[in-house]
Amino acid sequence: MKTILITKYGGPEVLQLTEMPDPVIKDPSQVLVKVRATSINPLDYQIRRGDYASLFDLPIITGHDIAGDIIAVGESVKKWKPGDKVYYSPRFGSSGSYSEYHLTDESSLSRMPDTISYEEAASIPLIGGTVWEMLVVRAQLKKGDRILILGGAGGVGTLAIQVAKSLGAFVYTTGQSILHEKLKNLGADVVIDHHKENYIEEIKTYTNGKGVDVIIDTVGGTTLSDSPLALADYGSVVTLVDIPQPQNLINAWEKNATYHFVFTRQSRDELHHITDLIETGHVKPVIDSIYPLEDVQKAHQRIEDSKRDRPLLGKIVLSM
Ligand SMILES: NC(=O)c1ccc[n+]([C@@H]2O[C@H](COP(=O)([O-])OP(=O)(O)OC[C@H]3O[C@@H](n4cnc5c(N)ncnc54)[C@H](OP(=O)(O)O)[C@@H]3O)[C@@H](O)[C@H]2O)c1
Repeated sequence: MKTILITKYGGPEVLQLTEMPDPVIKDPSQVLVKVRATSINPLDYQIRRGDYASLFDLPIITGHDIAGDIIAVGESVKKWKPGDKVYYSPRFGSSGSYSEYHLTDESSLSRMPDTISYEEAASIPLIGGTVWEMLVVRAQLKKGDRILILGGAGGVGTLAIQVAKSLGAFVYTTGQSILHEKLKNLGADVVIDHHKENYIEEIKTYTNGKGVDVIIDTVGGTTLSDSPLALADYGSVVTLVDIPQPQNLINAWEKNATYHFVFTRQSRDELHHITDLIETGHVKPVIDSIYPLEDVQKAHQRIEDSKRDRPLLGKIVLSM
């Protein structure tokens, strides 16, 4: 099978197209999946450049999203059969999705929504579980809440806007001016250009100084310490981004803020909620671009390039 293998850490050039033996079922609860599409997450390039070197042994097959067809099942698997369309996120640390075939335990699998393509489905599993965890499990977002989603044009942001809207929230987000119409079409009520405007001052103006109930941080940096200035009293900040530098949280203390730190575990249950939202038309996967597996280096260059000629909107997909 064709696989993208990482034998040393580095830039996109270390992603090498390689021929590997097809995997075979060894455990009765395993399932063999023909991967039809996968997508790129920042976690993939973080692993590729060695940010998680202490957790992995080289060589690595990375990739955290799969949409495909079951082609064989182990003898104890009763729920699934060859031909079933599935989507899922391979377990963190296990063999990843940049491959023609993927072997997994049946407990990973979710039924792929009927209404979307393999490419659209592959854009969802990792961010789907993440967004549900942030908005519903942690922030307990409810109808009428005001939410600020920082990084609205990214993979997480484009889905978070749609899910927040479906829950009845009033959605503020950040994104480049050229994308404002598209972000509003996804459900954002107000879009602030983070390249031109100070989002804290803008939120204070829009909310008459009250601030928002929930802030979703997909950006990092000083957001944890600064963003409470845009938060209402007793509001919540939910962050996905690791915190390499010490932060002064005095602004959070003054707001009686609650912080939630999210590091997504693979969660089939949370993905089921997103499947429902897709099938009822509340959520539509947002695809930035599609590359063939062989062009994986170009796909990584696009997601990492901070000076793109065309801004990123949604997910970059690899098609098999
Ligand atoms: N903890 C977890 O479980 C988990 C799960 C998923 C993702 N993550 C993390 O969450 C982050 C976002 O993931 P993603 O998939 O959405 O990434 P992405 O698709 O690369 O999107 C990043 C977005 O953030 C925007 N952005 C960058 N700097 C900004 C700033 N200062 N203010 C406002 N927006 C800014 C970018 O806009 P421009 O194009 O204008 O720069 C881009 O639209 C990554 O760090 C990822 O590792 C963590």
